[in-house]
Amino acid sequence: MTNKLLLLPGDGIGPEVMTEVERVLDRLMSRHGLKLDVETALFGGASLDEEGVPITDAVVATAKSAQAVLMGAVGGPKWASVARDLRPEMGLLRLRKEMDVYANLRPALCFAALADASGLKRHLVEGLDIVFVRELTGGVYFGTPRGIETLADGSKRGFDNQVYTSAEIRRVARVAFELARKRSNKVTSLEKSNVMESGLLWRQEVTALHASDYSDVQLEHMYADNAAMQLVRAPQQFDVLLTDNLFGDVLSDLAAACTGSIGLLPSAALGDAGKPGLYEPIHGSAPDIAGKGLANPVAAILSLEMALRWSLGEVGLADQLYRAVEAALNNGARTADLGGSLSSTDMGTAILAAL
Ligand code: NAD
Ligand code: IPM
Ligand code: MN
Repeated sequence: MTNKLLLLPGDGIGPEVMTEVERVLDRLMSRHGLKLDVETALFGGASLDEEGVPITDAVVATAKSAQAVLMGAVGGPKWASVARDLRPEMGLLRLRKEMDVYANLRPALCFAALADASGLKRHLVEGLDIVFVRELTGGVYFGTPRGIETLADGSKRGFDNQVYTSAEIRRVARVAFELARKRSNKVTSLEKSNVMESGLLWRQEVTALHASDYSDVQLEHMYADNAAMQLVRAPQQFDVLLTDNLFGDVLSDLAAACTGSIGLLPSAALGDAGKPGLYEPIHGSAPDIAGKGLANPVAAILSLEMALRWSLGEVGLADQLYRAVEAALNNGARTADLGGSLSSTDMGTAILAAL
């Protein structure tokens, strides 16, 4: 049976970076022996405009029946005033939840050729290779009750709920420990157990799992605010960073800036073994540059690389693609976010040439 890959270009720069992914896919299939059944569907604002919802039941079903799903980005000012439940971003949250992809691997890796593109000094980022394991289907993103209510005096009260169960914490922590064993064997678990009850439970569960199953891995606990500071002060102290949904969202954007540009960082959202993975650049739809051919397609192309590696059983091709991106950067290929002048298409072409 041929593996199925579902592409969800989405909105803004999503379709622009996905075009470059498709060129890479075509090349891998025509010249490198990759066999895949590739489908494309509407997602986010594009789906809302066409279907009245940010993702249809049919697309969710297709995603669950695929081996991997690769998305561009969703959202944008056009849909800013749409009802909360219909917002493009809600389509993404629904997809993550229904696919049950609870562990979001967000590598932040500084390519040697880009050490000077970082906002941080070269010696801080040269060789940087850290990875976030961000919990993706729980926490304040999904906790109830949530809402905005009107109080007796006519003023309003907005509220969200940060909730984690032992099982939710343990399953994502297990992914972080397993990953650390294949890397430098260190996990730093981030929370604010000094302030939050869910943070305290997080620390307790991670500590207990470590003691019972992973005592060979070095475990460190750190408050998330300190971690933000450490990430710009001395990011190389980390290997695997384990976080809840919200801290992981915020801190992975911060880590992206350490590596040079958010246009470089891919991610893999994984569930239990054998289940399909959801692959997404960590950047959004970038409304400020959408439609101008300026978007860096590397994050999307490296998301394909992660899909080949983690869901499609094509580790050899993933290695080749990774080396092609690295070689293109070594040859000086730079989009505007990296201080260069290449268009998205030129960057895709440079990577294809290296491949
Ligand atoms: P953003 O990531 O879209 O953009 C932040 C900044 O980074 C902008 O200046 C943008 O131009 C730049 N940037 C992002 N990707 C780039 C790329 N590939 N190449 C070059 N520059 C790039 O974040 P935002 O502006 O806060 O959000 C815009 C919209 O995207 C919002 O609707 C938000 O909800 C949505 N969003 C979606 C996703 C997703 O679909 N996974 C992720 C983040 C944000
Ligand atoms: C991300 C994005 C999403 C998130 C939004 C668009 C729902 O910021 O993937 O980083 O907050 O998880
Ligand atoms: Mn984000």
